[in-house]
This record gives sequence, structure tokens and C-alpha cells, in this order.
Amino acid sequence: MSQKRKILLFLVAISSVSLFLHHGGHLNWTMETSPMVCPSTSPTPTPKHTSIAFLKTHKTASSTVQNILFRFAERNNLTVALPGYPCDHQFCYPHTFNNRFVHPHTVPPKIITSHMRFNRAELLRLMPNDTIYITILREPASMFESLFSYYNQYCLSFKRVPNGSLETFLENPWSYYRPEEKYAVYARNTLTYDLGGDKDQTDPMYIRNFVAEVDRVFSLVMIAEYFDESLILLRHLLGWELEDVLYVKLNMRTSTSKLSLSSGLPAKIRAWNSVDAALYDHFNASLWRKLEDLGVGCVAREVQLLQRATDRLLRGCFGSNFPQLRSASQIKNKNLRPWQPSSKVAIVGYELPSNISRGSRGQSQDMCLKLIMPEVQYTHLLQHSESLRYRRKHPTRTPMQTLRPAISTLHQQGRKDHKETLERSITSPPLGAEIGGTRGTQQVSKKQTT
Ligand SMILES: *[C@@H]1O[C@H](CO)[C@@H](O)[C@H](O)[C@H]1NC(C)=O
Ligand SMILES: *[C@@H]1O[C@H](CO)[C@@H](O)[C@H](O)[C@H]1NC(C)=O
Ligand SMILES: *[C@@H]1O[C@H](CO)[C@@H](O)[C@H](O)[C@H]1NC(C)=O
Ligand SMILES: *[C@@H]1O[C@H](CO)[C@@H](O)[C@H](O)[C@H]1NC(C)=O
Ligand SMILES: *[C@@H]1O[C@H](CO)[C@@H](O)[C@H](O)[C@H]1NC(C)=O
Ligand SMILES: *[C@@H]1O[C@H](CO)[C@@H](O)[C@H](O)[C@H]1NC(C)=O
Repeated sequence: MSQKRKILLFLVAISSVSLFLHHGGHLNWTMETSPMVCPSTSPTPTPKHTSIAFLKTHKTASSTVQNILFRFAERNNLTVALPGYPCDHQFCYPHTFNNRFVHPHTVPPKIITSHMRFNRAELLRLMPNDTIYITILREPASMFESLFSYYNQYCLSFKRVPNGSLETFLENPWSYYRPEEKYAVYARNTLTYDLGGDKDQTDPMYIRNFVAEVDRVFSLVMIAEYFDESLILLRHLLGWELEDVLYVKLNMRTSTSKLSLSSGLPAKIRAWNSVDAALYDHFNASLWRKLEDLGVGCVAREVQLLQRATDRLLRGCFGSNFPQLRSASQIKNKNLRPWQPSSKVAIVGYELPSNISRGSRGQSQDMCLKLIMPEVQYTHLLQHSESLRYRRKHPTRTPMQTLRPAISTLHQQGRKDHKETLERSITSPPLGAEIGGTRGTQQVSKKQTT
């Protein structure tokens, strides 16, 4: 060991001891959970910011951010704008967002976070004027690989590729890709399309202007590869506590449904998705500038605290038997089964330990369940609870007037991809009844069947 290092260790030891003495020997856990590790940017304590538009992009860990926002909204009684008739659990994606897509019982909203194709003008009319715009991007090569696997059976541009080979597609994308075809939005510059841009316009001038426009509108563009760091920036931007951004990863694939990328493919993917690649490079760079402004060291410390707090939360919820990652068919609780895009791709979810109600540290069962609840089920749950709240506030409207949009939405969805879940929520006590706190949902369900 070098002399310098010895001296350094000695100094560290001395200062630790003095810190310990200074705190009268009470240096303990609670010190570590001190919420503000990076200095707050505002000199005076400000209330938590609650007007948020999160553009949920595809295949970017955005389901996890949505789950954080849903839980925050519920804890703080904030109205979340949700899709209504004729959309499903997304705002009629891939159509461009329109305020007509919003369920009438979910306005005026504070938060909006379901999938949409971004439309700034409509959101300006819908959302409070102090709304902060946030989104998330992912590295283009792994993103495209993910899209290619996930939408392989939906997107014809992918489906017509022989042997489902990503290499074959990239050798000559134009022999498989038809820009106007349904679901072609998943086959090229998908992030750009989600952000309201033109996926097939790859002129450098257009790209530059588009990136600048996104930069103007969005206060924070998170990066999936640096998810925890992005969350720390998010919580500082919104003045939230660390506890507000605890999460469990949702909507993941099993490792066997991931393709590995041979050398040369990432470059081809970037060339084919050149607008997305430009967006990514720009916002990855700006993320790191923001992290440096906040302090890379203190961010790392906060990330560590976040991970420890998550561990504690999971232990509190599930004891030592953490929810197990399972394939959908193995998950007994239908409310926790994630949606499966095709038989070839397995999206894993969590199975709840059967004795969750006796959470060892008294975490509420409701909160624990929602931490691992997939997007579609959570959306339906909020559609129910916000409709109930709306009808309590507007008791003079006749039930049929207020109920009809919800019913149509449910039937619509039922026909589409979540028949099973919905049939269950319509014919048997819905989720709300199981997890408590939303008495009355059962009556709604009965009405829906008549
Ligand atoms: C140490 O922890 C206990 C409970 O865990 C807490 O009551 C006490 O205030 C803590 N002491 C200090 C100095 O933080
Ligand atoms: C949310 O609303 C419920 C019922 O109206 C109320 O009991 C609770 O205190 C509210 N919580 C917050 C954080 O406003
Ligand atoms: C935001 O809206 C409120 C009321 O709707 C208004 O009083 C306020 O001036 C607006 N603020 C800005 C910055 O436009
Ligand atoms: C598809 O796979 C089969 C069997 O693995 C192989 O014989 C065939 O050449 C492949 N086709 C293409 C176009 O790669
Ligand atoms: C993101 O930016 C950082 C800092 O410039 C760089 O080190 C890192 O390699 C970039 N990440 C990716 C995936 O490009
Ligand atoms: C739940 O049950 C398992 C065994 O079935 C047990 O090991 C575990 O400690 C229990 N957890 C709680 C929180 O009671």
C-alpha cells in the first residue's frame, strides 16, 4: 500500500470516529435515509410539483415510470387523464393524441401518462399551465431489437421477413417495410413517431429542428440505460422525496426471448433509425450534463439509497419471499398477468406470495400490490376509481349518462386484447373489492352486465 493511501485511510478513520462521537454514538439507519442528499436547487422548500405530462414511449422502461406516477397520483388524490371510448388502455395509439380520447370522468387532470402519439397543442388545452413535460428514450440498437421481437407478429414489416431474422431485415429494410401500413410505426424511428415527429423524414435539417423542438418542450428526457440516475433527476426536478420514486421493474422479457446483436448490427440499426439515433445522442449527452450539474457523486449516493429503500419496501411488503418473476401462464392472480404480445415472446410478471396481507412491516397490501401491477390492469383500476369519484362529485347526473362511456370502453377493450381480465372484472368481484378501499366497484360491475 502506498504511503499516500495509508494517510488517506488514516484520515478517513479519524473523521469517521469524530463524526460518530459528534452524534453521540447515535449514527444509525435514519441518517442514511436522509432524503436530500444532492443539494436542492431551490433555496426554500417548495411543495411537490404535481402537474406532469409523461410521454410514455415504447419499449423504454416507460411502464415502470408510469407505475410510479400512477401510485403518486393515488397517494395524493390527483386526477390522471385516462383513455376513454373508443380507445383501449392507450390513447388510441397510433393516432395522434386528441382530447376527445380522454375519458370524461378523468378531467381536469393533473397527470397524463398513458401511451399516445404526442400532440403538444392538444395537451396545452388539456393540462394545467404549469405542466412539466417528461419522456424517456432508450439506446437505438437494443430498442430496435426489442421492438423487432415484441411486435414480430403484429407489424407486417417484421412478419414478412424470412425466418424472423433481424439481420435479413436490416440488409434491405425497404423490401419489407411499407411506411403507411398499420403498425409500421414500430418498424422505423418509433421514438420519433411517439414524440409526434415524422418517422420517414431523415433530412439532416429536419432532424436538427426536431431534436431542438423536443428539447424545448421537455424539461427532462430520461434515458433507460441510466434509469436510476434519471429518476434522481426526476425527483429533483419535481421536488419529490426519494420514497416517491421507489419502483419494481415491470414489463420485461425473459432473457430467452432476447436476440443477441452480432457486430455490425447496431450501426445498421442506427442508420435505419437515424432520427431516433440523433435524439438519443443529444439527450444522453444532456442527461449527463444534468447529472454533472447536480453532482455525479451525490447522485451515485442517492441511487444507492434508492436501491436500499426499495429493498426495505419489498421486504416490508413481501417478507423474505420477494415476488417471484414468473411467466404469465404461471401467475395465478390474473390481475398481475402481463399482456403477451405473441407466443414467441414471453413477458414476465410477478406472482404475489399468498400471505402478502401479513406484510411484516405493516405496509398496506394495496400499495404492495400496485407496485407490481401491470399497466393494463392498473389503468382499468384507475378508470373505475376515478369514475366513482366523479359520480360522487356529480350525483345529479343519471347513472346511465355517466356510465355509458366507461361501459363502451370496457367492451371495446374486452374485444381487443384483455378479454380475460375484463370478463373477470365484469362478472366477478373486481380487483377493487379484493384490495379494499374501493367499495362500490362491485355494483358498477353488476350494472355493466345488465
Ligand atoms: C436511531 O434510530 C432510531 C430508530 O431506528 C431513531 O428513533 C433514532 O432517532 C435514531 N437516532 C438518530 C440520532 O438518528
Ligand atoms: C385523499 O382523499 C381522501 C378521501 O377524500 C382523504 O381522506 C385523504 O386525506 C386525501 N389525501 C390527500 C393526500 O389529500
Ligand atoms: C395559469 O392559469 C391560472 C388559472 O387558470 C392563471 O391564473 C395563471 O395566470 C396562469 N399562469 C400562467 C403562467 O399562464
Ligand atoms: C431459413 O431457415 C432455414 C432453416 O434454418 C434455411 O434453410 C433457410 O435458408 C433460411 N432462409 C433464409 C432466407 O435465410
Ligand atoms: C451516454 O453518455 C455518456 C457520457 O457522455 C457516455 O459515457 C455513454 O457511453 C453514453 N451512453 C450510450 C449508451 O451511448
Ligand atoms: C409467508 O409464508 C411463507 C411460507 O409459506 C413464510 O416463509 C413467510 O415467512 C411468510 N411471510 C410472511 C410475511 O408472513
